[in-house]
Amino acid sequence: MILQQIRIREAGDSDLNDVLCVERLAFGRDEEAELVRELLRDPSAKPILSLLAFKDDLPVGHILFTKAHLEHCHNPAIEIAILAPLAIVPDAQKRGIGGKLIKTGLELLSKSGVGLVFVLGHPEYYPKHGFQPAGCLGFETPYSIPQENAIAWMVQALRPEIIGSVFGKVICANTLNKPEYWRE
Ligand SMILES: CC(C)(COP(=O)(O)OP(=O)(O)OC[C@H]1O[C@@H](n2cnc3c(N)ncnc32)[C@H](O)[C@@H]1OP(=O)(O)O)[C@@H](O)C(=O)NCCC(=O)NCCS
Repeated sequence: MILQQIRIREAGDSDLNDVLCVERLAFGRDEEAELVRELLRDPSAKPILSLLAFKDDLPVGHILFTKAHLEHCHNPAIEIAILAPLAIVPDAQKRGIGGKLIKTGLELLSKSGVGLVFVLGHPEYYPKHGFQPAGCLGFETPYSIPQENAIAWMVQALRPEIIGSVFGKVICANTLNKPEYWRE
């Protein structure tokens, strides 16, 4: 019932303030908003998919997918994206909006030819939305992460046959390519 009031659409340049505001409110600090600002203007992150969720015309959620590729994999048919970050403002959390943003994002990415989507995030949350541990499938993070956080590195294949046919280290956009983003 609540979800019927949620509208999701792609965010454009004129939505930047709304996007940054959602990020700040969700995380309660500036770091993720500044990361998003940088990613949106990083040529190596493109193509980007940036979606805003609105409830009663108020922005309440944001999700960002940026381009990545597999090291030493020169197969142009394997397009890859990284999900980071996902942000729902505190008042709107636990109402399915995060899940709806993930689902909408994955559908759009699938239509545009993306085959694999990676995330480093809450290991109790993302498996509910189709993600599975990526390390045991042969996908490495851009920087090695502590063993106790390895389960937080997850992947979802939008074309199931891709799993097992490729593996290797994921190379992310330049903005994300810093060790501090790959700790937990
Ligand atoms: C994490 C977050 C994106 C989830 O979005 P949401 O819209 O609140 O979540 P949904 O309504 O889609 O899903 C709710 C379910 O996820 C669970 N969940 C929510 N936040 C969670 C978390 N941090 N860790 C584990 N599970 C979580 C809820 O307990 C609930 O479980 P249930 O379905 O079994 O009851 C949101 O809470 C948020 O923005 N948090 C602050 C920023 C953040 O941590 N972003 C994610 C970075 S990886």
